[in-house]
Amino acid sequence: MKFDSILAPSLLVGDHADLGASAAAVPQNNLKWLHLDIMDGHFVPNLTFGPEVVAALRRRPELADTFFDTHLMLAEPHKYIEAFAKAGSNLISIHIEPEYDHATTLANIRKLGCQNGIVLNPGTPASAIEPFLDQVDLVLVMTVQPGFGGQSFREDMMPKLQQIDAWRQERDLKFRLEVDGGVDLTTGALCRAAGADTFVAGTAFFKAEDRTAFTRAVELW
Ligand code: DX5
Ligand code: ZN
Repeated sequence: MKFDSILAPSLLVGDHADLGASAAAVPQNNLKWLHLDIMDGHFVPNLTFGPEVVAALRRRPELADTFFDTHLMLAEPHKYIEAFAKAGSNLISIHIEPEYDHATTLANIRKLGCQNGIVLNPGTPASAIEPFLDQVDLVLVMTVQPGFGGQSFREDMMPKLQQIDAWRQERDLKFRLEVDGGVDLTTGALCRAAGADTFVAGTAFFKAEDRTAFTRAVELW
């Protein structure tokens, strides 16, 4: 099964003094997914926004049909899934690296009415998430060390994408395969060739000279 390409602009690289206007660029460019990077200053050395901001964005009429792809970069994500589900997330992805009950938390995300995702950092092998592949709607392979937008893309993550995509095909699993970090027209095409189908872009979207050209090009991947 081959998924159509989805571009998910990351609000991390939007205007933090006017997140509603930045988020509105998603439907304005006929895109469906908004990627929300939630950071706690512990799991990653940065802080962003919480459930109240997500709930306020969800109340915006222009975002009523926008898919909130919420990426929890938190040391204790199991404590926050309910808050982000109630705030209006459509998908909540959690990292494999912190110590907590991953399987139960993934199941609880679905019980809350959201799709679920598992995320792995560049230094984490694909084998770490293999046990969860039949329990998730999305796998997110970080192509930068999480914490900041505008970092350099890790091309050495391509074999990891290929491995996860091979497992997906061999086992006839239906999860989406997402990449996040340093994704632009060049690096995104590499990711697509390696099996990715869902592309988070902060800088390449919000700092694009021609957003329409960028979004059109991604649709052709
Ligand atoms: C890292 C963040 C960034 C962001 C995308 O923690 O998750 O990857 O979404 O930033 P760019 O596209 O600017 O690398
Ligand atoms: Zn992210």
